[in-house]
Amino acid sequence: MLDFIRLLRSYLGYLEALGVEVVPAYPEIKNFLDLDPLVPETLEDLEKEVKRCRRCALHRTRTQAVTGEGPCPAEVMLVGEAPGREEDLEGRPFVGAAGKLLDKMLAAIGLKREELYITNVVKCRPPGNRTPEREEIEACRPYLARQVRLVKPRAILALGSVAARSLLLSDEPLSRLRGRAHELEGIPVVPTYHPAYLLRNPAAKRAAWEDLKLFKSLLER
Ligand code: URA
Repeated sequence: MLDFIRLLRSYLGYLEALGVEVVPAYPEIKNFLDLDPLVPETLEDLEKEVKRCRRCALHRTRTQAVTGEGPCPAEVMLVGEAPGREEDLEGRPFVGAAGKLLDKMLAAIGLKREELYITNVVKCRPPGNRTPEREEIEACRPYLARQVRLVKPRAILALGSVAARSLLLSDEPLSRLRGRAHELEGIPVVPTYHPAYLLRNPAAKRAAWEDLKLFKSLLER
């Protein structure tokens, strides 16, 4: 069966190379952590797969895919939205201005970047940093699901509404999701404002600080 799916995928890739637009149909997901059997089982293989991924149209405009980085397993996992310009060029998550603020936010609760695993919902930069489309989020979902299963975090900090709504399969605005811990197969998920949003809206830093304190308290349990 897997061989058949692989064959079908490569045929679709061939059609796409001929200029035929392939519009994938994604099933309704019940659990964010459901896995696609075609997604590699080790982080090393997953990284190779993500780098050559063509599951959605973002592969056409990316410089490179940004898989994520950090120790695995790790107690803490951070999930952002998608790579921006600097991340697309460097191949690493959160290396731009938002990443600098993120480092300060982490330091405020005694965490260092090197000790946590950090990734994004979508692994390729959307053109002009636009919000990722539903199809792009869904195409990348099995990668993040595998990463969560491999990293086995004690808690996940969801940065921004795309991360929070994707992980929690929710349509609620971030303002209603943040401020409390949710659960993903027993893993607490704390949604908070994206650091890029905080750079534009410093008044929201107070609420983000409450979220960070909540996140820290979950790690100390
Ligand atoms: N914003 C994100 O959501 N992720 C990054 O890696 C960089 C900026």
